[in-house]
Amino acid sequence: MNRPATPREPLLSVRELRVDVGTTRVLRSVGFDVDAGELVVLMGANGSGKSTLALALAGHPRYQVAGQARLAGQDLLAMPVEARARAGLFLSLQAPPDIPGVRNNLFIRTALNAQRAARGDSEIDAYDFLGQAKAGAARLGLPEAMLARPVNEGFSGGERKRNELLQLALLKPRVALLDEIDSGLDVDGVRALVDLVGSMRREGTAFVVVSHYLQLIESLAPDRVLRLHEGCIAETGGVELARAIAAQGYAASRSREAEPVEAR
Ligand SMILES: Nc1ncnc2c1ncn2[C@@H]1O[C@H](COP(=O)(O)OP(=O)(O)OP(=O)(O)O)[C@@H](O)[C@H]1O
Ligand SMILES: [Mg+2]
Repeated sequence: MNRPATPREPLLSVRELRVDVGTTRVLRSVGFDVDAGELVVLMGANGSGKSTLALALAGHPRYQVAGQARLAGQDLLAMPVEARARAGLFLSLQAPPDIPGVRNNLFIRTALNAQRAARGDSEIDAYDFLGQAKAGAARLGLPEAMLARPVNEGFSGGERKRNELLQLALLKPRVALLDEIDSGLDVDGVRALVDLVGSMRREGTAFVVVSHYLQLIESLAPDRVLRLHEGCIAETGGVELARAIAAQGYAASRSREAEPVEAR
């Protein structure tokens, strides 16, 4: 039986997003979509507002936000930060902070149980969780002892990023925003990152990845590459846009704006 195709909303859709911090307008009008299993790379010069975009979507109270952002049909901007997380939004911070006094495994288990409760599922068995956490740590090359330590306290830069990846792996979000997850990761860490992102995409997780590094961007095989400039998405392309930016720099990319897309 033929039925007319109903237009389907993308998993994450952002429209005319405007973000102010204090009296500064950082984002003027940002729009993009990411669907289940897709990966979008967000590039832009230092200070162009990539972290601002990620933090504003996650619900950081520092930002005044207007416009529209929808996650699986829900109005993200109307939701408090914890409801956004429960709805399946995950943010890996550019500079993950220490949380003294909070054990890493308890932190992740508590977050996981809050999400399960929101779905009407029972709490995960503590031994099952520990098994998953140990397997995740092994996959990400994180020493098991770090599960029992306070979150990020005394962790090296790369260990913090691996710990963000552990949270990602265990929480299994619907949409993951990864803000410079590769900075500080060694070659094995980057390989583990690419492997984890690839397998989670196959399971349907959508990714928005902020990165400055072409090698990582190429390894991630993005569906789209976006360039943020002056508070807007100034360019959209495939991996060739990331290659052009890497080869020419952001100053040159600005001069490309006037050129037709085919000429890039
Ligand atoms: N509290 C604040 N007051 C004023 N300006 C701010 C404040 N917080 C951030 N900004 C400015 O907002 C702009 C965007 O910052 P953001 O951290 O989003 O950039 P970014 O694209 O992530 O850069 P990077 O590549 O260096 O991480 C910067 O110019 C920054 O100085
Ligand atoms: Mg940033």
